[in-house]
Amino acid sequence: MKRDHSKDAKPEYQVSAQARRLDIGLIHEFLRGSHWAKNIPRSVVVRAIRNSICFGVFYMGRQIGFGRVITDRATFAHVADVFVLPGHRGRGAAQLLLRAMLGHRQLQGLRRWMLATLDAHGLYKKFGFVPLSRPESHMTIHRPDIYQKKKRGAETPGKTSKSKIQTRRSLKF
Ligand SMILES: CC(C)(COP(=O)(O)OP(=O)(O)OC[C@H]1O[C@@H](n2cnc3c(N)ncnc32)[C@H](O)[C@@H]1OP(=O)(O)O)[C@@H](O)C(=O)NCCC(=O)NCCS
Repeated sequence: MKRDHSKDAKPEYQVSAQARRLDIGLIHEFLRGSHWAKNIPRSVVVRAIRNSICFGVFYMGRQIGFGRVITDRATFAHVADVFVLPGHRGRGAAQLLLRAMLGHRQLQGLRRWMLATLDAHGLYKKFGFVPLSRPESHMTIHRPDIYQKKKRGAETPGKTSKSKIQTRRSLKF
């Protein structure tokens, strides 16, 4: 039997897509400790929020959860940075959040929704997400250590440091 998601969440939780209601400090604090965005700088969080459709979950006026959708608003959406604060887990808040995301008026009729998760597959499965049917047809550039302190001499792939260019030049002449 299909489950009625409208009964999943306690009524005191509310979801809002109003950016001005978001608690940036709380979002940054959680994300910089998360396994997927460890040490993410606040400025990057702010930029990501500005360029996504963001959803806050609120309890008695205070934000206790978050998630954002990276999208072209026409064909594709990627769900990212979903979390609920530990004291509020297991009470339907994430399901309320997912329902709001998938029901958002600018996110209707998309060809594909994507997300990546370490262990919350069961949550997303409730909303129709399934593992990739052909994982071999998807590719990624993944830099899990991007926010870790840069080691001396470490470089971003594809980029060459100024000092190295100078060294190469000085070797030439
Ligand atoms: C994952 C997370 C957002 C779930 O939030 P939540 O408010 O506790 O979830 P809900 O109470 O709305 O419901 C979760 C449902 O999914 C199921 N589920 C499956 N795998 C789960 C998992 N790894 N974590 C939480 N719930 C999971 C639960 O059993 C529950 O279903 P049920 O009500 O039928 O028992 C929360 O545990 C969290 O913030 N975790 C840390 C951050 C994280 O891992 N985020 C996911 C990034 S993709």
